[in-house]
Amino acid sequence: MQESEIKNVFESATPAPENMDIKHELEQKVYLVGGELKTWNGPVQDVYSPVCVKEGNEYVRKRLGSFPVLTEAESMEALQAAQSAYDLGRGEWPTMPVKKRIQHMLNFVKLMKEQKQEVVNYLMWEIGKNYPDSEKEFDRTVEYIIDTTEALKNLDRNSSRIEKKGDIYAQIRRGPFGIVACMGPYNYPLNETFALLIPALIMGNVVIFKPARHGVLLMHPLLKAFKDSFPKGVINVIYGSGRATIGALMKTGKIDVFAFIGNSESANVIKKSHPKPNRLRSILGLEAKNPAIVLADADIELAVNECISGSLSFNGQRCTALKVLFVHESIVEEFNKKFVAKLESLKMGMPWEKGVMITPLPEKDKPEQMKALIDDAVEKGAKVINKNGGTINASFMYPAVIYPVNSTMRLYHEEQFGPVVPIRSFRNISEPIQYMVDSNFGQQVSIFGTDSDEIADLVDPLVNQVCRVNVNCQCQRGPDAFPFNGRKDSAEGTLSVTAALRVFSIRTMVALKDNEVNKKIASEMLDQRKSKFFSTDYLL
Ligand code: G3H
Repeated sequence: MQESEIKNVFESATPAPENMDIKHELEQKVYLVGGELKTWNGPVQDVYSPVCVKEGNEYVRKRLGSFPVLTEAESMEALQAAQSAYDLGRGEWPTMPVKKRIQHMLNFVKLMKEQKQEVVNYLMWEIGKNYPDSEKEFDRTVEYIIDTTEALKNLDRNSSRIEKKGDIYAQIRRGPFGIVACMGPYNYPLNETFALLIPALIMGNVVIFKPARHGVLLMHPLLKAFKDSFPKGVINVIYGSGRATIGALMKTGKIDVFAFIGNSESANVIKKSHPKPNRLRSILGLEAKNPAIVLADADIELAVNECISGSLSFNGQRCTALKVLFVHESIVEEFNKKFVAKLESLKMGMPWEKGVMITPLPEKDKPEQMKALIDDAVEKGAKVINKNGGTINASFMYPAVIYPVNSTMRLYHEEQFGPVVPIRSFRNISEPIQYMVDSNFGQQVSIFGTDSDEIADLVDPLVNQVCRVNVNCQCQRGPDAFPFNGRKDSAEGTLSVTAALRVFSIRTMVALKDNEVNKKIASEMLDQRKSKFFSTDYLL
């Protein structure tokens, strides 16, 4: 890539097509508490796009609007609304039959789908995700919600029977925990947030949700859909800093579940502020440093293609991204050459431009943070092996491929979460294995090779280091039916369409000793449908 192309990336951009453009700034003044869209007249935070536009003689981030910076007082208002909706497990929502909760959810999806274009446009403009991926994030989320309702039907069907062990009859179902505080990440502000919030809600919990740092305005079109689909106080949406809002909620000891995808530093501060740690359940998706191991007999073309998309999709801003590549020394030269050539063929530009992969970065300090990692590696003997790698133009950074990295460098250990690809060669397979054993992270790995003996020898030790060993493909979360989790410092709890229903609920049962009185009670309760819980009705 020529330096001039990078320096002109904003100037040479084609304007966004009419249907993908955002014409007016959105001063988002409302928050959702207790079924009411309340107006906020206090301080706000400006929202700037990673896309820069010309102002005078310079290119600056386009202003998209603003959102409320709420205080502890509004968090407490949300808590009160959630408490009264849950009513210590006696509220309408936690006691509602599953069939009716599903109807509320399907109504929400219907209203959500009507907002697709607006949500997708904000996704693209707020975080710089290219248009097809922004659209995919929306569609994947809709599919996730529908799959969740189907999974819950199955769960309910399996629970709609009475079991007998010894002299005890029992009916076992899954019930909610209570109040869930939920925050998602900026790289999947819709999908990953909803992958927490939707199962939490549908299992009968009530939710206080605060959008991520970036990707906030995209929730605006959905606020009314939330308000119109659920009983008041069941879903509350607040805005502001995580520590001031969710942190304040945690301190009350009234939060039952902390559901968060983001960095461990914030998670730990928030989690520790809960005064009753045994009551608090945490479902967390945190940092990862997924390696790729490219063996001597790997299909190099395939490995390069998967490693390019694994390390640079959405500019490397995915928790599942490949964040360090171990390549066998016998092929590292060829691999590096092909990797750099492939990188040079990637289109960079604005997120609406056709075929674009490298786009501007939403976090203001990200280019400088990436530069510090590159400088550290170069100081310690590595090289930027692609032309103009690491060149910065305002919010845009051209990806850098760094070789050879070693254990003295920050890039070897730290999660970069950006467009920098560290490569290291290895002679003995024990090197990358030891790297994973020593790592604080344990999410996934990708191995590339063609010999089943060698792959088998790697699969067995690695499945106990991470939770997903990908063979000849990049690391990824999907398909959403599969478990998504991590060992060590990478996660708490497992998410998938079905697993999420479990993590947001607890088994609870009714047990009756086998005697005449109980037989009569059970029969009357079942025949006359006296209880919503103790029931053998089959959900159609
Ligand atoms: O940021 C982490 C995401 O869970 C990654 O999801 O693998 O589908 O991009 P993905």
